[in-house]
Amino acid sequence: MDRQNRYDRPIRIAEGIYWVGFYEERTNLHCNPYLIVEGEGAVLIDGGSRPDFAVVMTKILQTGVDPKKIEALIYQHYDPDLCGSISNMIDICENPGIKILSETSNSVFINYYIEKTRHHLFKTIDMDNNFFAFQGRTVTFFSTPYCHNEGSFVTYDKKTKTLFSSDLFGSFSSKWDLFLHLTKECYTCPDYNNCPNGNDYCPIPDIIDFHRKIMPGGKALQYAMKVIRGIDIEIIAPQHGSVLTGKKDIGFVIDLLASLDGVGIDAYL
Ligand SMILES: [Fe+2]
Ligand SMILES: [Fe+2]
Repeated sequence: MDRQNRYDRPIRIAEGIYWVGFYEERTNLHCNPYLIVEGEGAVLIDGGSRPDFAVVMTKILQTGVDPKKIEALIYQHYDPDLCGSISNMIDICENPGIKILSETSNSVFINYYIEKTRHHLFKTIDMDNNFFAFQGRTVTFFSTPYCHNEGSFVTYDKKTKTLFSSDLFGSFSSKWDLFLHLTKECYTCPDYNNCPNGNDYCPIPDIIDFHRKIMPGGKALQYAMKVIRGIDIEIIAPQHGSVLTGKKDIGFVIDLLASLDGVGIDAYL
């Protein structure tokens, strides 16, 4: 099956968690919205841009979830690639009790995506009481300030040990696959341009390049990695790039990012 067909449907990445993004051969950046389904309810994470709304909603419908059952839309920062379709989501979900969840400082900008009559739907996440429970499932939020907005945070699903990391662990993915494929040779590879496994594409330089360009500086990235290192994670589901699975690959990429130089403004100093 070619990539276009393989990704022409929602993909289950863990129990009750679906990738509802899409593959385009020619795109600037692949975006990954995720749907968490539990019982009669669901939650959408980083729902996507305005131009991508139709295809993301089609994927949501293909999971079999009735959009009216979506209880919350979580936005882990305020960029247009994840927030652009908020108004469309509110329209189609037709749930008057739907919650738009984000950190306080993000609300200043997220409100510009939403008609004023709907601003009451925005519910601030209290980072000191940092969880959202629905249908007996709980997701927990961890603050990762300035990675890459002041109010950026990540979301953890305890049931599957999945971390939704927003732009962290993202990639420009010039050759995209939903899942990251690393081998033990990658952990000690001295030259990413000369793959010891003979592969013609190495995903690591695109991950490095993404963080150097998108994150504001090494300190912010190091702080985020310290926070994330303290969480028991089996899957990392980023908003761009590929899903990471397994503690070894995850640990390797955390170490890589925690020690990365030339991040953001650091490259100019
Ligand atoms: Fe962003
Ligand atoms: Fe993004």
